[in-house]
Order: sequence, then C-alpha cells, then structure tokens
Amino acid sequence: MFADVVVDLQYGDCGKGKVAHALCNENDYTHVIRYNGGCNAGHTIYHNGKKFVTHHIPCGVFYGIKSIIGPGCVVHVDSFLEEIQELEDAGIPARSLVKIASNAHLITDFHRAEDSKDSEIGTTKRGNGPAYRDKYYRKGVRASFDPRLQHFIISMYHELYENEEFEEIKILFEGAQGFGLDPDWGDYPYVTSSHCTVGSAVLNGVPTSCIRDVWGVAKIYETYVGAKKFEGDDEIFQEIRELGSEYGATTGRERQVNWMDFDLLKMGLRINGVNKLVINKMDILEQLDVWCLYDGPNLYEFECREDIELWIFAKIESEISGDVEIMFSGDKERI
Ligand code: IMO
Ligand code: MG
Repeated sequence: MFADVVVDLQYGDCGKGKVAHALCNENDYTHVIRYNGGCNAGHTIYHNGKKFVTHHIPCGVFYGIKSIIGPGCVVHVDSFLEEIQELEDAGIPARSLVKIASNAHLITDFHRAEDSKDSEIGTTKRGNGPAYRDKYYRKGVRASFDPRLQHFIISMYHELYENEEFEEIKILFEGAQGFGLDPDWGDYPYVTSSHCTVGSAVLNGVPTSCIRDVWGVAKIYETYVGAKKFEGDDEIFQEIRELGSEYGATTGRERQVNWMDFDLLKMGLRINGVNKLVINKMDILEQLDVWCLYDGPNLYEFECREDIELWIFAKIESEISGDVEIMFSGDKERI
C-alpha cells in the first residue's frame, strides 16, 4: 500500500482540487480519500473543459476511481445527495463510485442552525464546528446511522485491509481547508474544526510508513475568508481579487488578499514533510507584473517572475531542503 497526500499550505483555496485531479490522471490510484472537513470545502475542478465545484466528494469520481469520504470527515446528508445528483446529471457515475466511511460523522440540521448564528469566526455556516464539537463531546452521530446513506456506507478497515490485496492499494488523500486554518497550527480561533495537516490523512486508517509523496499546494499570493482582518491596504489586492476570481467557491464571499507570508509557507513545508510543492496562480501576478512577498516582517519586491522564483528556490533549498521539487503554475495550467 502507498498513499500520496495533497495538503493546502495556506488558508484553503490554493488549488487542491486542481492538483488532486491532475494526479488522478497521472497515477493509477485505487482510492481517493477525503480526510477532513465537510461541505465547508469548495474544490474547483475543470474536467474535459467543464467546471465542477465539489464539496464533500473526492475528485477520483472524474476518473472512475473509488472515492471515499473518510472517517475524519463530516457529512450533511441533503447536501451530499444533491452533490451526487449534480455529478450524475453531468454524466459522472458518482452514485457507484462514492463511499462513506461508517465512522464519519453527520452534520445535522441542528448543527447548521447553530453555525448559522456565527459572526465571530466567519465560518461557512455549513455546520462543521458544531458537528466536530459533538463528535469529540461524544454526542455526535455516525454516518452509518442515517438510512439515506446505506447505499454508500463502507467499513474503512475492511476496505483497506480485508478487501483487495494490501500491496495493490494506491491511495490519493485529498485534503480540505489549509494549514493556516488548522486548529493547532492556524491563527486560533480563526480556524476550522478539523485538522488540515498530513497527520490528519494518516488518522483515516493508514500506517505512516505508506506515505509516499506529500504534495503541498500554495498560491503566490495569499487569500483568506473569514472574520479577521487579513487584507493589506494597497489597492493592488482588489485587482488581484478580480483577476484571480478570488470569491469563495462555497459561499461566494470575497476572499481577502495579501502577499505570501514565506514564514507560513516554510512552517507548512516543514510540519507536513512536503516533497512536492505547487505554487499556483503565477499567471495572475504576471498580468499585473507585481511580485512581492513577506519574509518575516520584511516586504520584498521583485523585478520579475524569474527573480521571485529564484528567491523561493534558494530559500527552500537553504532553509528547508534541496529535495523539495518546486513547480510554479498558472490558474488554468494542469500543474
Ligand atoms: P477548501 O477545502 C477556505 C474557513 C472559513 C472560516 C473558517 C472556519 O475549499 O480550501 P468553518 O466553516 O470551517 O467552521 O469555517 O475556515 N474555511 C475555508 N476557507 N477554503 C475552505 O475550504 C474553507 N473551509 C473553511 O471561511 O474562516
Ligand atoms: Mg475552496
């Protein structure tokens, strides 16, 4: 068995969907597993030229790969069934490919109602926080208890260890949210309610020894959606938002924009053991031809794309490792 992991290194929305989709095309995975979060996520995927936004469902469905919502996730049944239907209507056989781990938890309408009152954190109001709270408070309800999900429910243990040959299982873990939203490593309390690190993937039932590649996904600038002030004062951020279509895929809210914080990237690379790094949305800054990032408190401005790329290459090589493969990518590029 081996597993590759896709982990977002900033505040979500860095292009996990795109990277996971590309990896499914290039590898013969037997399973794609979502390891955290619920329908707070919004992964934008272009498949055969058509745009899809997935919330619960892992991107393996686009390539006929069994796609599991893992035990680390929470599921809102009505939204999940709607998502299945939308994919089916678009000719994607989601009903037969998607499975839900019996020990994933439910987001109930009560959780949603409670979350809808939030104004402090700026949540997606999808019920995630209350669902995870109840899970850890031992008052939650597992997915296997909902009769409407019976067709989809599997035992994760059986699936991974007593079904196919152990050696034949090749997993892609598709994360939700991002390192900067992790409850432990993010800017608490402006975080989500499930862990967004590579460790979170392992919690879904695989041994640490089977992790092969850790794909870190970042953007050349940062975005964040939520209640805290994040955006810089420069008008350039407004322009980046427009050019980069930085509006929430789940809620449509404006994403606040700021320059890349290299310290956050460095921490995310280290803590997640990233060996493949994709830095997305280079084409957006290219259109403006403005290249900046923060290194600690210092804002650096670069003359051109090549200069910022060389700086990032050199910094990662000297401060983290020479073994991180770094790919700079545009929004519509494959990787
Ligand atoms: P993907 O997977 C960006 C943010 C919310 C809020 C905080 C807590 O598409 O990258 P929650 O509803 O999780 O309790 O909200 O986390 N948030 C995301 N931001 N992308 C996401 O997912 C997010 N999921 C949650 O905006 O600040
Ligand atoms: Mg998103």
